[in-house]
Amino acid sequence: MHLTDQEKRILDGGQGEIAQKCMQFLVAYGEAAGAERLVDLDGTVDLHPGQFWVADYVITPEEIDELANKGEKFKVPTFANKATAPGFIYDGWERCGTLPNSDPEYHKKCTEPFKPWIKMGMVPTFSCDNYLVASYLPAVGQHCAWVESSAIPWVNAVLGARSNFDGCFQTAYLGKVPAYDMQLDENRMATVLVECASELKADMDYDLFGWAVGEACGLEVPALVGIGKPTTSQLVKMNSSLNTGGQVRMYHIPGVTPEAPTLEAAFKGNRYKKRITITREDLKRVYEVMNYASNDHVDFVYLGCPHYNIEELRKVAEYLEGKRCKTPVWVMTNPLTFKAAEMMSLKDTIEKAGAVLLSGTCCGLLMGEMPPSGVMATDAAKQDYYITGIVYPKRLEVWYGTTEDCIEAAITGKWRGEWR
Ligand code: F3S
Repeated sequence: MHLTDQEKRILDGGQGEIAQKCMQFLVAYGEAAGAERLVDLDGTVDLHPGQFWVADYVITPEEIDELANKGEKFKVPTFANKATAPGFIYDGWERCGTLPNSDPEYHKKCTEPFKPWIKMGMVPTFSCDNYLVASYLPAVGQHCAWVESSAIPWVNAVLGARSNFDGCFQTAYLGKVPAYDMQLDENRMATVLVECASELKADMDYDLFGWAVGEACGLEVPALVGIGKPTTSQLVKMNSSLNTGGQVRMYHIPGVTPEAPTLEAAFKGNRYKKRITITREDLKRVYEVMNYASNDHVDFVYLGCPHYNIEELRKVAEYLEGKRCKTPVWVMTNPLTFKAAEMMSLKDTIEKAGAVLLSGTCCGLLMGEMPPSGVMATDAAKQDYYITGIVYPKRLEVWYGTTEDCIEAAITGKWRGEWR
């Protein structure tokens, strides 16, 4: 890989040992990815605080502390995804009802290590969809380093900025990433045409559609037609499924996403390699894969994957108003939206119904720490997919459906959701 003189100096240790280790990581990663050079970030970073990546290039907490005490800062605006496993609950932990998270000492122990990260400039958004509350987003064409399944299609497709899956301490500290794949013009155009033959209306439809497209597309970049104009909540769900059911890190919706004013522009005038049609039957098949509980009993309901935005919290509060939940219910959001929900009394309404509003993590990141349950209900394909693998060998059964289906299950203790 070609390095500039300044980059060579960092690699030779001219900027200290920590910068050298970060550069060694970038060079090894870039060479493995086939990058010819590094590119300077001019957008933003989204990273999992606490994750140090790749044993040979570990940056220790003590080293981060040392940098923070010297007044060193991340090179570009840097936002916290949720902390990596074993994660911790940022808000609402006092009422979560599980251990170790309801222990104040544990909470303190978990939050302390992030102080140096924050001192270096990391914004404590602690969310898998921190892009909804970041208050500062990259502009079209800017080079970024993000992580997380829903976030990668968000930065590339929705914002028109550029990122591979490489937001981490090293990229934020040096402000550089290997120039390959989504960082380069030639890899961003659509290569397959995906037509949706079924009208997508509910948020769940977009979740199922994203999964079906992810399975069908591999590493291709799809142009999606016939999907209407998805709302923000629907785009978040679709993105998380695209990049969980498959590996779609970029797509175009002609007339909607910034790099595709028209279908021709999405393909940059080229012909598509493949044409895929997603039918109602495809959505039903994914729905059936997601539902693998064997009886209608529900022990626990998890909502908020990806972390619920304020509109989703408003809807949940509306559904729960004046009701009483039979099962434990966790509703997950991010710390900033948690505060907004408190100010709007949504938290009160949710908690009066017996559900708990939490922020900053999810059952998956808590490595299965959740109220005792053999059968869980959720409205997110991504949570559904990850959770059983995480609690293995425990045999957790999962019901999947709309948010309304899940709330109904919380109130009655029974699953009544069905394919409609
Ligand atoms: Fe977020 Fe956990 Fe889902 S981190 S995207 S809530 S699996």
